[in-house]
Amino acid sequence: MFSMIRVATIDTSSQLASSFINSQRLWDRHMEMAKIGATPAGGVNRAALTALDNDARALFTRWAKDLEFPSSIDPMGNLFVRRPGLDLDAAPVMSGSHLDTQPSGGRFDGIYGVLCALEALQAIDAAGVKTRRPIEAAVWTNEEGVRFQPGCMGSLGFTHPQRLEQLLEAKDDDGVTLRQAVRTLKERIPEAVEQSPHRPVAAFVEAHIEQGPVLEQSGNTIGIVSGIQGTRRFHVEITGEDAHAGTTPRSRRKDALSAAVAMVSALEAVFHDDPDDVTRFTVGAFNVKPNAESVVPGYVMFSIDFRQPEETVIARLGDQVETLCQRNAGRCEVRVTQTSRTPPIRFEGLVPDTILNVTQQLNLSHMHIYSGAGHDAQHLFNICPTGMIFVPCKGGVSHNESEYATPADLADGARVLTDTLVQLANSPD
Ligand code: HGY
Ligand code: MN
Ligand code: MN
Repeated sequence: MFSMIRVATIDTSSQLASSFINSQRLWDRHMEMAKIGATPAGGVNRAALTALDNDARALFTRWAKDLEFPSSIDPMGNLFVRRPGLDLDAAPVMSGSHLDTQPSGGRFDGIYGVLCALEALQAIDAAGVKTRRPIEAAVWTNEEGVRFQPGCMGSLGFTHPQRLEQLLEAKDDDGVTLRQAVRTLKERIPEAVEQSPHRPVAAFVEAHIEQGPVLEQSGNTIGIVSGIQGTRRFHVEITGEDAHAGTTPRSRRKDALSAAVAMVSALEAVFHDDPDDVTRFTVGAFNVKPNAESVVPGYVMFSIDFRQPEETVIARLGDQVETLCQRNAGRCEVRVTQTSRTPPIRFEGLVPDTILNVTQQLNLSHMHIYSGAGHDAQHLFNICPTGMIFVPCKGGVSHNESEYATPADLADGARVLTDTLVQLANSPD
C-alpha cells in the first residue's frame, strides 16, 4: 500500500485542469512507447508480460516517478500509479487501459488509454488542483488475450476475487504461468510496491480509440460510450489420425482438417445469416498438426470469437456451437471449450453523464456510441460507476499495424478525461 501523505486545504484551481494538457508531450510519449516492440510495418508486437511489455511498463513507471507518482503492482501484474488525494481513506478514481498488443497491433489500441491517464494526472498536478479522492492510472494485464487466455485477464482478476487463483495458473504456449510471469515483471520494476488484489474503486473511466469508422464518418471528435456488446469465445479441438497422404484411402482417413473445414462452414452458415450484419463471428486462430504437406492432419485447434449486442442472440447462437461441431466431426473426435463469456453492458449514470457535461463545457463535437470492441471497462463495470471516452482512428482501422489517430484528437480526448476525473474525484460519495 502507499505510505505517501500529503496534507493541504481543499481548493480547486479556477482554470480547468484540461487547459494544462500538452498535446506534443502526449504524442511524443506515444511515439516513444511505440519503439518498444516496433514492427517493420510501423505497428507494435508486445505480448503481455514479455520482456517487451515489461520494458513498456518500466518506461511508463519512470515517467510517473519523474512526476512523483508512486507505483504499485498487484498479483495479476496490474500496474497502478497514484496521485494522492486529500482524504487518505477515500477509494481512488481510476483511469487506464492496456499496454499489451495484438501480434500485428497498432500504436494506439490500449496505449492511448494508459498514456491519456498519465497525461491527465500531470495536467491536474500542473493546474495545482487538489482532489478529495486519489486518482490512479492503471495498466491492466493481458487485455488482448494473446499470450494467455482469456483476454481482459488483469481486470477480470481485479474485479472477480473468486477467479484469481485460477487465472494465476493460466499457462502460455511454453507452460509459463501468469503467476511466474508476474514475478518476472516485479523483478523488472523493483520500485513498484505490492498492491492488494482487490480494493474498492470510486469510479473508472477508460479512454480508447474507437476501433471503428463511426466517429470519423460523423465528423465527431468525442464518443461517449453507451455500452459494449457481449462476447462468447470458444476453442474447438479436433482429433483424428496422422496418416500418409499418398497411401491412405479416403475411407480410412480421420482427417482433422477436413472436419474443421466442414465445422467452420456449418458455423458460418448459422452465424452469418443475419441480414442486418450485426453479429460478429470470427475464426481467428487455426492451428494444424503436424502441418506437413504429405501428412493427413491428425489435429486441428481453431478459435471462435462471437459478439452480439443482444443477450438472447448470444445465448441462442452460442449454444449451437457444440452441436454444429459434433455434427460435422465425421470419424474424428471433437472437444468444444467455452473460454470466456462476457454479457453486453450499458454505461449509464454518473460517469457517462459527467463525460457528457465536460465535453459540452469544452465545446467539443460529440455523439453517443456503442462499442463493438471489448475493453477492461467491461469488468470494472461490475464493481463501480464506469464509462468510456472514444476518439476517432483513421478509417476505423485497428488490430492492424497501420492504426492511426491524430495528435489533436488524442489531446481532445485527454482534455475530456482530465476534467471528468477531477469532477469524479471531488464528487460527493
Ligand atoms: O478484441 C477486442 O475487442 C479488444 O480489442 N481486445
Ligand atoms: Mn484495446
Ligand atoms: Mn485490442
